[in-house]
Amino acid sequence: MHLLHLDASARTASFSRDLSARYAAAWRGTYRYRDLAADPPPVITEAWTEICDQLMADGITEIHRYPEAVRTPDQRAAWAIVEPLLAELVAADTVLIGTPMYNYSVPAALKLWIDQVTFPRMSLAGRRFVVAGARGGTHDYHERYLRDFFAGHFGVEDVEFVTAELTNSLVDPLLANRKADHVASYEAAVARIAW
Ligand SMILES: Cc1cc2nc3c(=O)[nH]c(=O)nc-3n(C[C@H](O)[C@H](O)[C@H](O)COP(=O)(O)O)c2cc1C
Repeated sequence: MHLLHLDASARTASFSRDLSARYAAAWRGTYRYRDLAADPPPVITEAWTEICDQLMADGITEIHRYPEAVRTPDQRAAWAIVEPLLAELVAADTVLIGTPMYNYSVPAALKLWIDQVTFPRMSLAGRRFVVAGARGGTHDYHERYLRDFFAGHFGVEDVEFVTAELTNSLVDPLLANRKADHVASYEAAVARIAW
């Protein structure tokens, strides 16, 4: 069994990194790590969209056939970025994503990765996704988006979310009275992620 472990927090003293590392530490199979915050994928280019449109026009949905849609030098340059990211993703039985909530969404670095590796009607069915999340408050804007995205674009229904919330209670005086709730949330997340 192979694990692809991604992290997206901009900081090292990070709850999402802590939780994802705990999951990874218990993994007994093969392992690949990518720090999206330290090494963010570039934004997709026009050539990337041309590959995407060609795949749709030709009805190509099998990932191993994607190179058939890569034709021009610009498209080859775009594909050189996609290919290793996609190969890592396809090789994984479980994809573990450590991600904070930033501005009601996922960090730009994670969104860049999603944009690079996602093509029309691709299937990653049979894989499992685990999202180790952290947020400063309590409102969740991740689960609905990522659950719908993984199901709709990857054909993956097996998705687990483990989240530490209220992390801002440690730094924001206005949330200081929620520290106990944060600690309880973190401890529950640690207990759940240590499978
Ligand atoms: C740029 C930025 C935007 C943020 N936006 C939100 C937000 O919309 N909602 C929220 O609850 N917390 C927000 N936070 C707080 C982070 O989610 C919180 O600090 C979290 O613990 C970060 O994850 P990490 O501990 O893995 O680094 C934001 C933090 C940053 C740096």
